[in-house]
Amino acid sequence: MIERYRAIVVKQEQDRFVISIDNLHIADLPEDDLLIKVNYSSINYKDVLSTKGTKGITKNYPHVPGIDAIGEVVRSNSDLFELGDLVIVTGYDLGMNTWGGFGQYISVPAHWTVKLPENLTQREAAAYGTAGLTAGLCINEIINHVPTQGSILVNGCTGGVGSVAVSILSHLGFNVTSLSRRPDRDYLLNSLGANECQDSESFIQLHNSKPLSKAIYDAGIDVVGGHLLSAMLKSTKYGGIVTSCGNVGSAEISTSIFPFILRSVKLSGIDSVEPPVDSKARVWKLLAEKWKPSNLEELVSEISLNDLPQAIENFNSRIAGGRVVINHNL
Ligand SMILES: NC(=O)c1ccc[n+]([C@@H]2O[C@H](COP(=O)([O-])OP(=O)(O)OC[C@H]3O[C@@H](n4cnc5c(N)ncnc54)[C@H](OP(=O)(O)O)[C@@H]3O)[C@@H](O)[C@H]2O)c1
Repeated sequence: MIERYRAIVVKQEQDRFVISIDNLHIADLPEDDLLIKVNYSSINYKDVLSTKGTKGITKNYPHVPGIDAIGEVVRSNSDLFELGDLVIVTGYDLGMNTWGGFGQYISVPAHWTVKLPENLTQREAAAYGTAGLTAGLCINEIINHVPTQGSILVNGCTGGVGSVAVSILSHLGFNVTSLSRRPDRDYLLNSLGANECQDSESFIQLHNSKPLSKAIYDAGIDVVGGHLLSAMLKSTKYGGIVTSCGNVGSAEISTSIFPFILRSVKLSGIDSVEPPVDSKARVWKLLAEKWKPSNLEELVSEISLNDLPQAIENFNSRIAGGRVVINHNL
């Protein structure tokens, strides 16, 4: 086996955080249950925060980010995995304070690791990544509350969670209204398959000005928080549900209680990081089979490790882009 590997390393220089591509020693990784050769990773919102030293994400630098890693087991101290098993690792401490998928090797506990389901390629798993798993967990939560072909609102639709959620829901035959600050109609309607797209700010003006608005939607998926989440709750029908998993707009919410007490609307929090690995595996199986949109691979842009520093820099200013996958073998 080779002794060195390449990785994106973030270093702290006084109050600046600087990214470089370094050659690291595999022997310096902490010894854990599994050593995995990472073939694919992807960029998530949290990775960008980690590269900038945002408080509450990564405590110690130098650090290798990457909350997603898809690859092959090359050393196993666990009865659950054999050499050559293809696996997915997302969440827990990966890429937070445990060196993550922006390096070509990781060393992780077996109980963080899911076997790659049949019918899913490594590239497809990276196309989903944490964003797709989170979209899947949201859909899993709302699917029992929503009639077949029910109407579902999704916000932050040009981003990772939102774009995957819209694609899966459209594929499953739901009526999807996509909310975006910059509604790119062609991307949202034609690439992702949404039935309708609306401007997020206009949606807030229309639905958040009164304690309760017209009941239009069966369910919602929120990654933004704040006024947009409040407006979504107020426009949800009786017995509907809104999942909350992100806070790109605001970590606060101010709303009336009428959606809850007059329409029995549920607000359900979703976490993709800490659920037991078996419940992640169940969602990965659905993502691999009946939930998989036919155009999943077309929704990603693929880059090499060399391209990654620039892609991180551009991540928050991309207009419509969905998911960025890193192929470590390029
Ligand atoms: N709970 C969990 O386990 C979990 C897992 C994954 C992600 N998350 C969270 O979910 C959120 C989204 O993650 P992501 O990977 O989808 O991020 P992303 O790829 O950056 O997408 C976020 C999208 O939200 C919209 N947006 C960005 N800034 C905004 C602002 N200031 N106000 C309103 N809308 C804004 C943009 O879409 P438009 O321009 O189309 O509006 C953007 O594309 C983040 O807060 C992330 O931490 C949570």
